Amino acid sequence: MTSYAVIGASRGIGLEYVRQLAARPDSVVFAVVRNAATSTHLQAAIKGLQNVHRAAKLASDLAGGKLDVLIHNAAITGSPASGRGGFDDFLSMYELDDDFITTFKTNTLGVIHSITAFLPLLRAGSTKKVVVISTGGADVPTVRKQGIAYMAAYHITKTAAVMATAKWALTLQDEGFVVVSLTPGLVDTTGTKGEYGDLVPEAAHARMVAVADEFAQKNIPVVLETPEQSVSKQLKIVDGLKPSDNGLLIDHYTGKEYSL
Ligand SMILES: NC(=O)c1ccc[n+]([C@@H]2O[C@H](COP(=O)([O-])OP(=O)(O)OC[C@H]3O[C@@H](n4cnc5c(N)ncnc54)[C@H](OP(=O)(O)O)[C@@H]3O)[C@@H](O)[C@H]2O)c1
Repeated sequence: MTSYAVIGASRGIGLEYVRQLAARPDSVVFAVVRNAATSTHLQAAIKGLQNVHRAAKLASDLAGGKLDVLIHNAAITGSPASGRGGFDDFLSMYELDDDFITTFKTNTLGVIHSITAFLPLLRAGSTKKVVVISTGGADVPTVRKQGIAYMAAYHITKTAAVMATAKWALTLQDEGFVVVSLTPGLVDTTGTKGEYGDLVPEAAHARMVAVADEFAQKNIPVVLETPEQSVSKQLKIVDGLKPSDNGLLIDHYTGKEYSL
C-alpha cells in the first residue's frame, strides 16, 4: 500500500490528484482541506470511496503511522486583490502589505508548515517524497517573457516557496528524502471553482483561454490543459522521482529542471 497526502484537495489540481491517486490499486489518500463542509466538489468526488480520508490528524492511525508521499498543492491563486494585483493596484502600502503578508502566509509559510506537520509520518515511511506544486511564474525569465507585471504577490510568494522547498531538500537529503517543486503548466481549473471564484465559471474559462492565446503569441511553449491531463503528467514525474532531483523545480512537460 502506498499512502499519499494532498494538501489543498478541495478543488482544482488538488482535487484531481485525489481522484487519480484514489483510482490506483492499493493506495490510501488523505485529502487535506481547511473546510470539509464547504469542499463540495471533493465531497462529490470521493462519495463511496473507502480509500480516501479527509482528516489530516487521522493519517497517523489510518496509514499505520507512515506516509509515503506528501503533495502540497494549496495556494492563494485567484483573488482579484492578491492573485492579480500589480504594485499600482493597491490604495496604500498598508493595503499592499496586508495582501502580501496574507499571501505569503499561505503560499510560502504554508509549505514549510505542512512539511513540518507531516515529517514524522514521512520519516516513518520508506518512499520519502515531498512534492510542492509550483508555477512557471516562480521563474524570472518566464515572467519576463510572459510580460506579467500583475500577480505580484502570487509570483513573489511562489518564488519564495521554491526556495523554501530547496531548503527542505537540503535539510532532509541525508535522510533519503526527495523534495521538489513541480510546475503544472497552465491548467483550466475553472470547472471546480464554483462559488469560490471571483468570476462565473464561463468567464473564468474564457480568461484562461485568452491567457493561453497570449502565451502562444509570445512563443511561450504552454498549452491549456485540463486538470486530468496535467495531473496525469505530474504523477508520472512523482512516480519516477530520484535522488538527483532533490531540490529542483521540475517541469511537468519534460520531467527535467524547469527552464523556459
Ligand atoms: N491552474 C493553473 O493554471 C496553475 C498554474 C500554475 C501553478 N498552479 C498551482 O497549482 C496549485 C493549485 O492551483 P489551482 O488552479 O488548482 O487552484 P484553485 O482551484 O484555486 O485551488 C486552490 C486550492 O488551495 C486551497 N487553499 C487556498 N488557500 C488556502 C489556505 N489558506 N489554507 C488551505 N488551503 C488553501 C483551496 O482550498 P479552499 O477550497 O478551501 O479555498 C484549494 O483547494 C497552486 O499551488 C497553484 O499555484 C496552478
